[in-house]
Amino acid sequence: MNVSIQELADLVRRSDKIIKHIKTHIFSPDGEKRFDKTFKIGDASALIGRHPTTIREAEKQGIISAARTEGSSVRGFSLEQINKARQHFNTMPRLGADEEAAVLAVQNFKGGVGKTSIAVHLAQWLAIHGFRTLLIDLDSQASATTLFGYTPDMDIDADDTLLPFFEGQQRTMHYAIRDTQIENLSLIPANLQLYNAEYMVAASHDQRPIYSYLPQGVEDIKKDFEVIIIDPPPALGMLSINALVAATSLLIPMPPRMLDFTSSLQFFNMLHETLEEIQQHFGTDIVYDFVKLVTSKKKQRTSNEKFARAEDDILELARNVFGQKYMLDSIIYESTAIDNAASEFKTLFEIQGQTTSYKSYRTAMASIDAMCEEVLAELLEYWPSMKSRIKAA
Ligand SMILES: Nc1ncnc2c1ncn2[C@@H]1O[C@H](COP(=O)(O)OP(=O)(O)OP(=O)(O)O)[C@@H](O)[C@H]1O
Ligand SMILES: [Mg+2]
Repeated sequence: MNVSIQELADLVRRSDKIIKHIKTHIFSPDGEKRFDKTFKIGDASALIGRHPTTIREAEKQGIISAARTEGSSVRGFSLEQINKARQHFNTMPRLGADEEAAVLAVQNFKGGVGKTSIAVHLAQWLAIHGFRTLLIDLDSQASATTLFGYTPDMDIDADDTLLPFFEGQQRTMHYAIRDTQIENLSLIPANLQLYNAEYMVAASHDQRPIYSYLPQGVEDIKKDFEVIIIDPPPALGMLSINALVAATSLLIPMPPRMLDFTSSLQFFNMLHETLEEIQQHFGTDIVYDFVKLVTSKKKQRTSNEKFARAEDDILELARNVFGQKYMLDSIIYESTAIDNAASEFKTLFEIQGQTTSYKSYRTAMASIDAMCEEVLAELLEYWPSMKSRIKAA
């Protein structure tokens, strides 16, 4: 069979058409993503940091208002209303004068372990909780960008990604930061062309240390955020090294399966070697606030099924090897809710239980919530004044 370049071009045009069709049918009618999740009074009260009666009082005074969601009799508060209330009560979580933004890289050189899913859910959770959060998509596969409703090679130009920054055409990363459908959440998108940055950085190594781009870039923008989350590609390349050096903490997703467990051990090995080399060559000291493995995509143990039992054994082994210092307690389970949402370019926060059984949605949400709460607790250890303000609220 012969396939000409023209035929390939036709194939690309047809797939673009299909993607456009999916986008306009799945997303809001104008093709733009909207965040229309609403929060019942209990959740809203926790998010605002004020007692429900105080919220009701504010509602009576017309400061904020709840709305009935389409097809539901329950009234809820939109995120916009919640942020209005946070402004009113001065409960927006903001860093103290001597506190710095956290830079979290969600990294593991193994592919498909849940890095992007964890990075995007965490970023959205933090933004919903009022933290100014930036997600940097550093992977030319652009899965994170997709979860924000973009079709990377249709909606995103190379100039919208960090490529011009790595090429030296842009001195800071400000140009690439864009708002998202969620207030307080910004995105630096990626597309396939970002891959060229790997070569650009390598080619300029005699003029500039290969690891120095992102750390400097992050330094210039970090006063605008509480948290910057980096979603790097699943390989040890120039972009990954930049993410590792720019990060103040690492989250390392690891499904409790033998191959993933051994490759996570290798990841630690490579991490150690790479950072040691950077330290020796350039005298740059790298000290992370925390480095935590996150058990991801674990099978729910509903039966005594062999694989689920094997996963329990590996999880126990991992807990023995890494201990609490290097592992979060919470577990992200393999969930049809997460996977179904992703296949509609969405996260759990955007589906409100529609595309999957409510039980599966609740379980998945609980595991994501627990993971995010644990990460926040770690972050707050480094933000004492923010911690005391949140506690007092
Ligand atoms: N908890 C989960 N339950 C079910 N499916 C999941 C879960 N987390 C991620 N997935 C699915 O697994 C696949 C890989 O996940 P994801 O893209 O987050 O991994 P990744 O480590 O970022 O992959 P890559 O190495 O390619 O960047 C995706 O199809 C995603 O929807
Ligand atoms: Mg990914």
